[in-house]
Amino acid sequence: MNYRHAFHAGNFADVLKHAVIALCLEHLKQKPKPFRVIDTHAGVGAYDLTSEAAKRSPEWRDGVGRLLDAAIPAGPAAALAPYLGAVRAMNEGGGLTHYPGSPELAARLLREADRAHLCELHEADAKTLDARYALDARIKVERRDGYKALAALLPPRERRGLVLIDPPFEAKDEFAALARALMGAVERWPTGMFAVWRPLKDLWAAQRFDAGLGLWLLEDRGVAPENLLRADLWVRDLEAEGRLAGAGLIVINPPHTLEGRLLALLPWLAQTLAQGPGAGWRLDGAVTEADLQAL
Ligand SMILES: C[S@@+](CC[C@H](N)C(=O)[O-])C[C@H]1O[C@@H](n2cnc3c(N)ncnc32)[C@H](O)[C@@H]1O
Repeated sequence: MNYRHAFHAGNFADVLKHAVIALCLEHLKQKPKPFRVIDTHAGVGAYDLTSEAAKRSPEWRDGVGRLLDAAIPAGPAAALAPYLGAVRAMNEGGGLTHYPGSPELAARLLREADRAHLCELHEADAKTLDARYALDARIKVERRDGYKALAALLPPRERRGLVLIDPPFEAKDEFAALARALMGAVERWPTGMFAVWRPLKDLWAAQRFDAGLGLWLLEDRGVAPENLLRADLWVRDLEAEGRLAGAGLIVINPPHTLEGRLLALLPWLAQTLAQGPGAGWRLDGAVTEADLQAL
């Protein structure tokens, strides 16, 4: 396990992922009934953008760094509000030195009665995470394989909430492991909200994953098309060699407001975070003709 999120914290992929998570959490808060967040691959919780890792790989400068100084039009601003609210709250003196990972977003957005269950397998990272939330009674940290944990944790007692699956994609068979775990999880909790992150690096593998999952959900599980949403962003030509150019999420049972929010956000985000020719975005139901051809 070599993946260290500190090298990537706050990059374009984090911006989209964390903006989506924050919107999902805000939506869940619209009803008084408590909910639970299950974060299967939690990382260390929050990131110091002045650390050696962030200095060696300052990806955040072309991600969240571009947002804080931007004049953001009303539509994108509304979509980014819960996310940027948490980022700003961590940097109260101004500037940008601290960045919330998915656990810290949850910690900042959860209410008193809501709960978060965080899984992290890396020994040192799990310790850091545990120490960070030791005094927060709403948050439980486990050093555990997040995929395996899903079988034990679903459905949550509250019967409301968000499952975030955000693997490092170090292993060659990560897509297969993700698909297996996700399908099992949806079977255990068909009405749960699931947000699954995946890179657009091996495009063929991503397309096969999307189409396979999409067809299974729509045809085998009878999920309504409006309950499946794919949001992708790429900051350069996706075919270009080198660093990650694109990434996105598949959201199962998304909040009904998410599509509209993302439709307002993604074009502006693609323009604002572009790092070269060919930047773009898509928002759809994950099973397009092109995806089907990959099967
Ligand atoms: C992309 S990072 C998570 C970032 C975090 N979700 C966020 O948004 O701030 C992936 C994390 O998964 C951890 N990890 C890798 N395999 C795991 C597994 N099977 N179960 C739980 N955690 C795992 C890695 O150590 C790494 O910290």
